[in-house]
Amino acid sequence: MKNKTILIAGGAGYIGSHTCIELLKANYEVVVVDNLSNSSEESIKRVEVITDCKIPFYNEDIKDKRALHRIFQENKIDAVIHFAGYKSAGESIDLPLNYYSNNIGTTISLLKAMKETNCNKIVFSSSAAVYGNPKKLPIKEQTTLLALNPYAQSKLIIEQLLRDVHVSDNNLSIAILRYFNPIGAHNSGMIGESPLGIPNNLVPYISQVAAGKRKFVKVFGGDYNTVDGTGVRDFIHVVDLARGHVKALDSLWSMPKFLISNLGTGRGYSVLEVIKEFEKASGKNIPFTILPRRDGDVAESYSDPGFAEHEFGWRAEYDLKKMCKDAWYWQKLNPNGY
Ligand code: NAD
Ligand code: WQD
Repeated sequence: MKNKTILIAGGAGYIGSHTCIELLKANYEVVVVDNLSNSSEESIKRVEVITDCKIPFYNEDIKDKRALHRIFQENKIDAVIHFAGYKSAGESIDLPLNYYSNNIGTTISLLKAMKETNCNKIVFSSSAAVYGNPKKLPIKEQTTLLALNPYAQSKLIIEQLLRDVHVSDNNLSIAILRYFNPIGAHNSGMIGESPLGIPNNLVPYISQVAAGKRKFVKVFGGDYNTVDGTGVRDFIHVVDLARGHVKALDSLWSMPKFLISNLGTGRGYSVLEVIKEFEKASGKNIPFTILPRRDGDVAESYSDPGFAEHEFGWRAEYDLKKMCKDAWYWQKLNPNGY
């Protein structure tokens, strides 16, 4: 029987490239479409080396409906995994139109192309950002949702859009995955997170301090009501996250469904705990300074990962030590990213 073919929208990016590897390992075929607005084609070339597979790659904007239609005509697409979008919560406050038009525009474009070609399965990258400032921990999927910025609001709108489309056509199978804080890299050190300019996120920033590219980590807030006063997050290894997509996708073939699931470990670590673990992994001293809180940050966020295990048999395996080890190996081999 022919392997199923999955269109990976945004597949050259951080999470998409790792997911391509896990899908190929699970005997799916992948086709990647990405306009490289936040990535490099080099990631796909490296995935080809790691997996010894050839990946059809289209450098196109997914909002371009004609280009997308051609891709669906040229390939028999059985399902879509939709990573394509902008992802910086802070930037979205300054550029709301870009965030709404790109994140929602790519989704509508994909859903239309799917409808035209009778492709009826989609996995969507949502975010723990939809939980805003959680009232109760660990965070369950049914909790109240609150968008604190246009990025999070764009994810909430897309979740609603997908729900509406499922109501209109219940042959559609949809998995919405709310990721917590993905970090780390593939253990080959060949692919990883490659932010442009100054990293916004904690672990890419720590990596650059360990590598001597930046002087110290700016710790945003030391007066939260947490274990040591610094923010607490549910960091998850990107390879675990990628495997979560394979498991969620596997579960969509048996019958049409609409599911929303957290992807996290269920365990929170503070900013200072991450810095300490990264010092051990890298053998480097990592200086830091405590600064005022960053606008829009919450004190503590970690998932209840139980639904993913119950619904599609997935659970994160890797601990913080492995996440830091792999992030550091990637940083060491690729000091300037791709
Ligand atoms: P990323 O920026 O590395 O990957 C997104 C990819 O989409 C990039 O390669 C980019 O070039 C591409 N893209 C963007 N707009 C496009 C368009 N119009 N047409 C074609 N390609 C386009 O980000 P990532 O970290 O891999 O995140 C993937 C998804 O997961 C995003 O939707 C993000 O919002 C979501 N997410 C990420 C995180 C995180 O911390 N990394 C957390 C929660 C959710
Ligand atoms: C983690 C902790 C910071 C940088 C973001 C998005 C979220 C999701 C994941 C997409 C916080 C602290 C950080 C630094 C620091 N992305 N920090 N110094 O904010 O939890 O989530 O990425 O969906 O939507 O908002 O991740 O890595 O930026 O921060 O002290 O230089 O590290 O204050 O407590 P965050 P992060």
